[in-house]
Formats: sequence, C-alpha cells, structure tokens
Amino acid sequence: MDFNLTEEHIMIRDAARDFAQNELLPGVIERDEKQQFPDELVRKMGELGFMGVMVDPKYGGSGMDTISYVLIMEELSKIDASASVMVSVNNSLVCYGLEAYGTEEQKQKYLTKLATGEQIGAFCLSEPEAGSDATSQATTAEDKGDYYLLNGTKNWITNGGRSDVYLVIAQTDRAKGHRGINAFIVEKGMEGFHIGPKEDKLGIRGSDTHTLQFNDVKVPKENRIGEDGFGFKFAMKTLSGGRIGIAAQALGIAAGAYELALKYSKERKAFGTEICNHQAIAFKLADMYTEITAARHLVMQSACDKDNGDDYTRSGAMAKLYASKVAMEQTVEAVQIHGGNGFVKEYHVERLMRDAKITQIYEGTSEIQKIVISRSLIKE
Ligand code: CAA
Repeated sequence: MDFNLTEEHIMIRDAARDFAQNELLPGVIERDEKQQFPDELVRKMGELGFMGVMVDPKYGGSGMDTISYVLIMEELSKIDASASVMVSVNNSLVCYGLEAYGTEEQKQKYLTKLATGEQIGAFCLSEPEAGSDATSQATTAEDKGDYYLLNGTKNWITNGGRSDVYLVIAQTDRAKGHRGINAFIVEKGMEGFHIGPKEDKLGIRGSDTHTLQFNDVKVPKENRIGEDGFGFKFAMKTLSGGRIGIAAQALGIAAGAYELALKYSKERKAFGTEICNHQAIAFKLADMYTEITAARHLVMQSACDKDNGDDYTRSGAMAKLYASKVAMEQTVEAVQIHGGNGFVKEYHVERLMRDAKITQIYEGTSEIQKIVISRSLIKE
C-alpha cells in the first residue's frame, strides 16, 4: 500500500530520523543504565515541534496530522523508546486531552506551555488496584464547593517526577459508577501532592516513572475537565488516540531491531560467508520484515482513520495489539541473529528487547486491546 506521504511527511520523518541518530543515539546506553531522564533532549524536541505535534499553532503546537505524529514516534523509537514514551504521553494523552476537552482558559494556561515543550505533562489513571479495570478508581475527589479535595495514590506514572501538569482521574461519586468519575488538572507543587521514588524498571529505563500520592490536595473547581462525570469517557477517548502513539512506538522498536539485525547479518561471517547467506538467518529477516510491514499498515490505517475523522478506537487497538506483539517477538529474533553480541549492551538489541515488553502492557494490556476490539465487533 502506498500511504502517499507528502513532501512534508517525508521532511518531518527525516528530521526525526536525523535527531534520533545524532542526538538520541550517543547517550542512549548510558541513560538506560543510569535511568537518566533526557532533560536537554526534551528541550530540543520541543524546539523541533515534537512535543505538540498535532496541537493547533494558536496554542503553540505544530499543527501537523496524526500521520506525521506516528512517523516521528517510529523514528524516535527505533533509537530510544524512553524518549519516545515521554513524547507520546505528552502529545496523545495530555495535549490531546486538553485541546479536545479543556476550556479556553485551561488551554491558554496549560496547553500553550505543554505543546512547546516548555512544560511536560503526565496522565494519571492507573492505581495499585486499578490498572486494567479503570472504573475501579480508589482515588477520590470530594466536592467542597469551590474546590475538590483529592486523595489517593497513582502508580506507574510516565513523566511522573518531571512533569509540571498532571491530568488526574478520580472518583467523585462512587454510587454513579463510571459516571461518577472526573478528570482534573493538578499542578506540581500543590500542597499535599507528593512524588514517590522512581521505579527501577526492566525497560524504557530512561523514562521517568513514579508513584504519586495525593493527600488532601485542594484542586480548584475550574481545573475539572469537562462536565461533571465526564472523567471516565475523557480517559477512554484520550487513550484511544494514545494507543496509536504506542503502536507507532512498538513499530519503531521492531523496525530499529530489524535494521540492526540486517546490518549485522551482512557483516558477520560464519562458516565461510556472511551470516545473511544462511537460510536460518535469511528466513528470520524475511519474517521480520514482513511482520513489521504488516504492523506499519495497521499503524498508518489507525492514523488515517483519526485524520479522516473516522472512528479510530478499534483500529488503534488493533495497531497496538499487533505492533506490540511484533515488537516483542522480533526483538527476540534480532538478539538471536546477533548471537552472543546480542546479549551485550553496545549492540543495542538487548535494550530494544527489554523496551518492547512494556508496549504490551501500558495504555492497556494486549488483553484489554482484545476486549476493545471484540466489543466493537459484537456491537456492529
Ligand atoms: N471512547 C468513548 N467512550 C468509551 C470508550 C471509548 N474508547 N470506551 C468506553 N467508553 C464508554 C462506554 O460507551 C460506556 O459509556 P455508556 O455507559 O454511556 O454507554 C462507558 O465508557 C463505560 O464503558 P465500559 O462499560 O466499556 O467500561 P468497562 O469498565 O467495561 O471498561 C475497558 C472498558 C476498555 C476495559 C477500560 O476499563 C480500559 O480501557 N481499561 C484499560 C485502562 C488503560 O488503558 N490503562 C492504561 C493507563 S494510562 C498509561 O498507561 C499511560 C502511561 O503512562 C504510558
């Protein structure tokens, strides 16, 4: 399929590729080892327009389409999935959530800084007892007249320590089920808001993942997003687009591992020839390329659906389900092709393999994607 990339699409893809090669690659192993967040690189990505790709320029964004966004995500993720998850959360969950559902005041106050990368945002839905089952929010926001009193704990929050703005989902009226849930804008530094220690993770170790604690945090009424009770739908609608970003991340991880494996197989010799000439390796390359191409079709389809104003909940879930499976399976193959060297950090593929796993977990596990897809099929 020809996706008819425009000249602009090709320019933005090449800009992301150059940035990944020249800026992300040099320190990626060290950031992974030391779990370092790339502050300076975030600033540069802001300058390149990667932090608010789809946001209207009147709010400081780049005004590009979802195709551009997935092209950027794929290129960044080929090299550094820790940097790309930070970009993904800021773009698809935080900026999109505010632009689509925030008030004009909220957009002026928060979105304008988030879209330029001057500030970073986090999306806080998961809890110790509510990961997949998102309606079971234990965090509460009690209506106190002109403010809400927020109490609870959020887990595994990407950009948790470094963010300035946090979109927090909380229960305001348990009796109403999902209609008793709201979303709030919480600022770093609000009294009673504590950032817990950074998680020590298997993969995407350069990303900034924390537990957050809210103890009697007074959130002004004007910081609620949407009508009373809109919070669950806000989270679901926002995650529908977020899954396209994570699908593109998974695609990039798989494609990055494939490119390394292909190059290695053309250089490494065994039994008198480059290993790519052995069918055992050549067939792996054929399978990798075929599956990555199929994943790219699903990612592009979901991005096109969003750009065309069509429903993208199902296609985004399909893209994430498939691309994350491909990422996991094909990074394992890339390590195998590298043999002993694949187990060594300087060859990069072991990191990509570790990074791939999270794409089957966050923004909804693979099992959640199957729920979303099957429900939409049955409803038809
Ligand atoms: N768009 C709009 N509305 C939606 C929707 C969507 N995508 N999905 C559900 N809804 C609506 C439903 O229509 C329903 O509304 P009505 O009652 O008015 O008809 C309402 O929401 C409740 O829907 P369900 O009955 O389907 O809800 P459920 O409890 O069965 O849960 C679920 C559905 C899909 C399993 C959901 O709980 C879910 O997506 N869970 C996974 C959560 C998740 O992805 N967490 C990741 C955390 S964020 C993260 O990882 C960020 C990061 O840091 C990287």
